[in-house]
Amino acid sequence: MKTILLAGGAGYIGSHTAVELISSGYDVVIADNYSNSCPEAVKRIEEITGKSVKAYEVDIKDKAKLETVFKENKLDAVIHFAGLKAVGESVAKPVLYYRNNIDTTLTLLECMQEYGVKNIIFSSSATVYGEENPVPYTEQMQRGTCTNPYGWTKVMMEQILEDAAKADKELSVVLLRYFNPIGAHESGKIGEDPQGIPNNLMPYVAQVAVGRREKLTIFGNDYDTPDGTCRRDYIHVVDLAKGHVKAIDYVLSHDGVEIFNLGTGTPYSVTEIVDTFEKVNDMKINHVYGDRRPGDLPESYANADKALNVLGWKTEKTLADMCRDTWNWQKNNPNGYNK
Ligand code: NAD
Ligand code: WQD
Repeated sequence: MKTILLAGGAGYIGSHTAVELISSGYDVVIADNYSNSCPEAVKRIEEITGKSVKAYEVDIKDKAKLETVFKENKLDAVIHFAGLKAVGESVAKPVLYYRNNIDTTLTLLECMQEYGVKNIIFSSSATVYGEENPVPYTEQMQRGTCTNPYGWTKVMMEQILEDAAKADKELSVVLLRYFNPIGAHESGKIGEDPQGIPNNLMPYVAQVAVGRREKLTIFGNDYDTPDGTCRRDYIHVVDLAKGHVKAIDYVLSHDGVEIFNLGTGTPYSVTEIVDTFEKVNDMKINHVYGDRRPGDLPESYANADKALNVLGWKTEKTLADMCRDTWNWQKNNPNGYNK
């Protein structure tokens, strides 16, 4: 059985990926400092899968501690989810973001080198396409200019991983560029649990639905889009997690660097998200229109052909599924994991 280290595996995307990997016959080891997650998420993964999961509380930047994980486990591959991801916070605290995101990547690569682990999948983001590229984004486009330090950390980490693979011909790197993950596992046991006021649309909508926030502000309705609100490529987190299973199969059997967009290829507007959430969950989401949010692009969506052609992966879930499963998670866990 192949063993995969999930760095940052207790988080939103990592926990869903753990479930899908275990269900596909992989063994997983989680390493997380719980800076944006909690051990309860690991328990929930165990509840869903019926398997016990080895988890280490470790800061990935702490090489001595991370080495213990590499020493104690025979790892076949690493998936690197561990990072800080709040765009606004990254503008206020750029040094924290560069230190955490870049250092975790370097420390993981050093340990991989020392312990002979040759396969890594990295959680990148559509944000690396920057402001210049036209939609839909294809993987061969040049990385663009980012509007915030978070985005730049992703650009830099992609470059670091590409350089590492150039120098070590046995190294296999897959860069997964996620679009906008939303939704939750259909069990309602794991989902997105942001700390404080959510920055992202869907968790904000869910918290309005559960009564934790009074109303949603839709940031701008004067964009050059069909209904004036921004359009994004929302992807169900379980579809995204299944993309990681395909990417693991790929990374274990190839060398060099490969980049894949993980998106649906279909954009939806903010208004369509609110309307669909209201319809499938039979409720009203109190909302108002406000100013544009600085840095927002009118549209961001994938050309998802490469993942289909090379990995044989495509999304299966609909926007209605995403809205239903988000609400199922939120209503079962009104305060997230800290019930
Ligand atoms: P998340 O915050 O839920 O998960 C990240 C996990 O990494 C958390 O459990 C956190 O505690 C852990 N972590 C952070 N720094 C660490 C460190 N130094 N040592 C150990 N653990 C650490 O976020 P997520 O939404 O699951 O995102 C996972 C990855 O995907 C991130 O790298 C993120 O930038 C990237 N990504 C996310 C989105 C999104 O919209 N959610 C989109 C594109 C890319
Ligand atoms: C979606 C749409 C907002 C909140 C971000 C990062 C990106 C990636 C995914 C990590 C936009 C609108 C939002 C609200 C709103 N993250 N909105 N009211 O900005 O597309 O992407 O998360 O890698 O790098 O930038 O996602 O969910 O914040 O916003 O109207 O209260 O919802 O303006 O149009 P975004 P989002």
